[in-house]
Amino acid sequence: MQGRVQTPTWPGVIEAYRAFLPVTPQTPVVTLLEGNTPLVESVRLGPRLGLRLFFKLESTNPTGSFKDRGMTVAVSKALEAGSRAVVCASTGNTAASAAAYAARAGLPCLIILPAEGVAQGKLVQVFAHGARLVAVDGGFDAALAVTREVSERLGLALVNSVNPHRLEGQKTAAFEICDVLGRAPDLLALPVGNAGNITAYWRGFVEYHADSRITSRPRMLGVQAAGAAPLVEGRPVERPQTVASAIRIGNPASWQGAVTAVRESGGLFTKVSDEAILAAQKQLAAEEGLLVEPASAAGLAGLQQISAAQPFNGETVVCILTGHGLKDPESLLRAGTLPAPVTPTFGAV
Ligand code: F0G
Repeated sequence: MQGRVQTPTWPGVIEAYRAFLPVTPQTPVVTLLEGNTPLVESVRLGPRLGLRLFFKLESTNPTGSFKDRGMTVAVSKALEAGSRAVVCASTGNTAASAAAYAARAGLPCLIILPAEGVAQGKLVQVFAHGARLVAVDGGFDAALAVTREVSERLGLALVNSVNPHRLEGQKTAAFEICDVLGRAPDLLALPVGNAGNITAYWRGFVEYHADSRITSRPRMLGVQAAGAAPLVEGRPVERPQTVASAIRIGNPASWQGAVTAVRESGGLFTKVSDEAILAAQKQLAAEEGLLVEPASAAGLAGLQQISAAQPFNGETVVCILTGHGLKDPESLLRAGTLPAPVTPTFGAV
């Protein structure tokens, strides 16, 4: 019989990895069927680096970034705990995800953002999902500090990655990579801002290894923007600056988790210039067909940088593409502008 190939419906990360997550049969599951994101093998950039390179398209999650994996768990647990609202600080993607999952749960959502530098697409998401928004005169670090106070004093559920349920959800991306590859990669490259994601990935690999699902664990390559590289410098950065607004963070909340991930895995932190980030973003779009926001290109820029110093030799590497390019159209406007219109005739066209 001819017809559509029947594939079982993906149930979202909580149901897919329930045994590894802090949920009970009583937890109300708030999901947009996040996760199960594609692991796409590189056709040009990886071979050029001497790698078997895969891109994990976290940009294909329901709100366009990896944050949805953590948010499904954090918002489900907030609902279970009877919270009356959720609150977060954000450079944009956490805000978009919190706003969407709160809408799904029927909970009010308060977002506290830096007044400058949040990409347009992310703001549009927050507005559309009906969240309340406060812009503060300061960067992400100041926004997070006041958000912690608001959460405590008003008794609202804090859904930044300092909420342990966020990291529990985010570690499922490591599980998916191992399930698809049938092994752990040799190296995992990803951008680092507030450092929750690198902490979560490492936890995922450690747990899968302890459960004998994989026989090795990857080295972790944490990539920061040169103007916002506290983990590379070894001290907080007072006024972080980078075109990659998602990772414009000077004092990451999960500092210790990131340091542990890199140390225990035998990995490293590195910093890349804005030029290298934008060049990698352009290459991903033009040579691989993958449109990402600037922060998401940092992982590739980091791989390119370390390969210049020490060439690779066929390693299996996964590079995490954390957020979609459409979230930050401003960063892509240099790519081209609409030409003057012509009459719709063959000759003119
Ligand atoms: N990539 C993107 C697209 C992000 O939005 C973020 C963080 C990161 C990478 C870094 O991840 O913070 O876990 O090290 N965005 C946060 C936010 C800070 O508010 O959306 P991290």
